[in-house]
Amino acid sequence: MAKQVSNTDYDLEKPLETKVGLRQGLPSYGDPHFSLFLRKVFIKALGYSEDALSRPIIGIVNTYSSFNPCHANIPPIIDAVKRGVQVNGGLAIDFPTISIHEAFSSPTSMYLRNLMSMDTEEMIKAQPCDAVILIGGCDKTTVAQLMGGISANKPILHIVTGPMMPGSHKGVRIGACTDCRNNWAKYRAGTIDIEDISAVNEELAPTTGTCGVMGTASTMACVLVALGMMPFAGATAPAVSSSRLRIAEQTGKNAVAACEQRDRLRPQNLLTKESFLNAITVLQAIGGSTNVVVHLMAIVGRHPKLAGTITIDTIDEIGRRTPLLVDLKPSGNNYMTDFHNSGGMLGLLLELKHLLYLDAMTVTGQTLRQELANATLPIVPRELSVIQPFSEPLCPASSLVVLRGNLAPGGAVMKASASKYKHLLQHTGRAVVFANSSDMAERIDDPDLEVTKDSVLVLQNIGPVGNPGMPESGMIPIPRKLGSQGVLDMIRLSDGRMSGTAGGTIVLHISPEAADPSSVLGIVQTGDIITCDVEKRLLQLNVSDEEISRRQEERVKELQGTDAPWLARDDMRGYRGLYMREVKQAQFGADFKFLTAEGPSAK
Ligand code: FES
Repeated sequence: MAKQVSNTDYDLEKPLETKVGLRQGLPSYGDPHFSLFLRKVFIKALGYSEDALSRPIIGIVNTYSSFNPCHANIPPIIDAVKRGVQVNGGLAIDFPTISIHEAFSSPTSMYLRNLMSMDTEEMIKAQPCDAVILIGGCDKTTVAQLMGGISANKPILHIVTGPMMPGSHKGVRIGACTDCRNNWAKYRAGTIDIEDISAVNEELAPTTGTCGVMGTASTMACVLVALGMMPFAGATAPAVSSSRLRIAEQTGKNAVAACEQRDRLRPQNLLTKESFLNAITVLQAIGGSTNVVVHLMAIVGRHPKLAGTITIDTIDEIGRRTPLLVDLKPSGNNYMTDFHNSGGMLGLLLELKHLLYLDAMTVTGQTLRQELANATLPIVPRELSVIQPFSEPLCPASSLVVLRGNLAPGGAVMKASASKYKHLLQHTGRAVVFANSSDMAERIDDPDLEVTKDSVLVLQNIGPVGNPGMPESGMIPIPRKLGSQGVLDMIRLSDGRMSGTAGGTIVLHISPEAADPSSVLGIVQTGDIITCDVEKRLLQLNVSDEEISRRQEERVKELQGTDAPWLARDDMRGYRGLYMREVKQAQFGADFKFLTAEGPSAK
């Protein structure tokens, strides 16, 4: 390994090479030799030798937080990553960034995703790292890390904390968080009692790690593998397994090797359109989280060569030729540990091989084709595998669909594979409208609410601006009076998100959002008739164009002079103001305009 720092660093007659190792990104004192001298003064306080400081520096992003149980195993992962770096001749230095957990981020974790991406980008840029290992796991963390990593454009390698193990209640396996929602719905409907729900609460997250179903965290982990940013088993090895630590060690080794071909492996060079098409194929084949549609748009939007070339319609197009192959909750019945034991992402990618762009590059410097050729798939008896053969899919195509129509001119997303009653995929019904989350909470269980199982529940004002952070309230609860009659699913519409672990016939991310005074979603009224036709990809408000225009004009007048979020955002301070003024609509990833590749730098 070439030494990158030596005492000739202090030779004032020689210009400093400042592109690699400890010498890169020196603070500005107007005298680079002094800047390096000073840097070495301080790092030696930690006991480093000149030999150690001469190695390629691998930054390790540490997102451990006692408020983030999904990341509780980060300390042993860091130890293993460091071992991999150091036995292969690098110097591993870890540093913290923001950590975000779903249950501990108010108003929502999504509100903080872009902030974390800015933190990640700026710390990667500011510190002397030749390559960076990003340790994330919980839903928004891996997304923020990839967004920031693409913008920083140094070689990045991902490792996730991995899925938690399932728990058990009365002999039935349960796990966060599909079963959190199922059991809570049963409790609301009165089919289980307070003792049961309390016992279930103890077992839903029995170990550290990310939610053990195909929620957003697991989906993103699979997407990272498909993008070539993480080893195959990295997506599925349980958080508490020794495999995960070996994958971490391997990641450390890969990071040192990446320094030898850093330009080729910078994310803006490594990630191509084909990499993203592979990721979308995997997203559809696993019945992945709807949230990842938004996240992928934000990630692509950071890439100067790809921004605008992949849209939500690309997701729908790829879905039409991609079958659902993985039988995991919430679309199916199993858990991430079952996926891992069935061969995990290696098994899935081999099934999908003819749909993939195999010449896409991975962080090892090898193509996906080479990586697949070098890997060995464990033999799993067919009846024990949760990965279906390509010829026997769980659903022939279109796990995730994109709907359009006068109600969603910018698009809306539905996980059709998670619909409980398939007849709802072609349905016309009477709207029952809730103006916002508190209105819904107040009225949803009102015994006098005029609602039937054929109604269409509409929730307004939970979009990116209307309810900052676009909360996961899109899975509107079934009104208790219908739940107690055994109704498990209804068509529900909103401009918000739902947890990737949730299921039902639920239309999300309607764009433009209701808070936009010109939106159609914002003028829907109880009693209007709405058609949702998945086959036709249609979301239609059956009200005349004239009436829609009349209501829109009236609404614009009504909002004038009020503190409606869309109008009041220019007067907001701090991060809240930045978020409200800069956030884009869901169809564009809900990133901040000034961070995207089509933002200010493009001009
Ligand atoms: Fe962290 Fe589900 S709450 S992954």
